[in-house]
Amino acid sequence: MPLAGFFSASLGPTTFALPAHAMKFHGTKNYVATQDLMLSVNAAITLQRPLLVKGEPGTGKTMLAEEVAAALDMPLLQWHIKSTTKAQQGLYEYDAVSRLRDSQLSDIDGGERVKDIQNYIVKGVLWQAFTADKPVALLIDEIDKADIEFPNDLLREIDRMEFYCYETRELIKAKHRPLVFITSNNEKELPDAFLRRCFFHYIKFPDATTMQSIVDVHFPGLKKELVSAAMKTFFDVRNLPGLKKKPSTSELLDWLKLLMAEDIPAEALQSKDDKMAVPPLVGALLKNEQDTTLFEKLMFMQRHNR
Ligand SMILES: Nc1ncnc2c1ncn2[C@@H]1O[C@H](COP(=O)(O)OP(=O)(O)OP(=O)(O)O)[C@@H](O)[C@H]1O
Ligand SMILES: [Mg+2]
Repeated sequence: MPLAGFFSASLGPTTFALPAHAMKFHGTKNYVATQDLMLSVNAAITLQRPLLVKGEPGTGKTMLAEEVAAALDMPLLQWHIKSTTKAQQGLYEYDAVSRLRDSQLSDIDGGERVKDIQNYIVKGVLWQAFTADKPVALLIDEIDKADIEFPNDLLREIDRMEFYCYETRELIKAKHRPLVFITSNNEKELPDAFLRRCFFHYIKFPDATTMQSIVDVHFPGLKKELVSAAMKTFFDVRNLPGLKKKPSTSELLDWLKLLMAEDIPAEALQSKDDKMAVPPLVGALLKNEQDTTLFEKLMFMQRHNR
């Protein structure tokens, strides 16, 4: 059943300027999107709700927003969240310090600038997204880094696509509903009221075929033998029981880049009896000493058939 038409899209006064069915995401030449991911992106577009994307680090959450924006020809506004970020910063900030300073230097514009409070309102990404002349994509990256109140503080803005600026006494209302992407690494639980307003997608770790396509996108001319040997080692490493941090897509890509730069042949990745060997430049895949020790121990036991 086509998604457009199935869901009601009457979520407030503003809509995308283009009809939802005209804005379909089909992946890009730089980004490998699985069917279910494409379906989720298009469902979020149809529903006009933010797409909440979770998944292991390095599985393409941030890049998804960049690529969807590029594919749909929308400018992308990015808001990278830190532990100290407050929701208000995404709306606007009143720069009282500059205003006080300017008031003491009254020769600036003969004091005209200080009189107008508008000059001291610093617009946040939501303000910029709401007032943009064409529909934009908005990425709220790593929302789980902020404190627990952060998502709750954005509920109304995300729902109604408007907020009030008390200093200038104006209601900032979205001209066009932005296409919102929210990413999370699951460091904190998100409140239910916030989840209710989103469409959710978990980017599953790519299977071997998808990973092969991702590698092809990044390194189209790479020798087949090297890719398959590297992929085998990579998935063997990932499947080691007890690993603290499994290597991700971006780490495989880094490792391949290094293997190419150092001109390492496929044979160097696997021992002759097809058992696992400690791969060269393993530091691209394993990122802490416990995992390296565990890996070396397992290799040792395998070699001695224990
Ligand atoms: N599906 C994909 N197609 C193409 N490249 C991909 C894909 N997934 C991941 N990559 C590669 O992995 C890199 C990391 O992706 P990205 O930064 O989007 O991950 P992330 O999920 O946001 O990670 P983190 O949670 O650490 O922020 C990208 O720059 C890209 O090179
Ligand atoms: Mg990211």
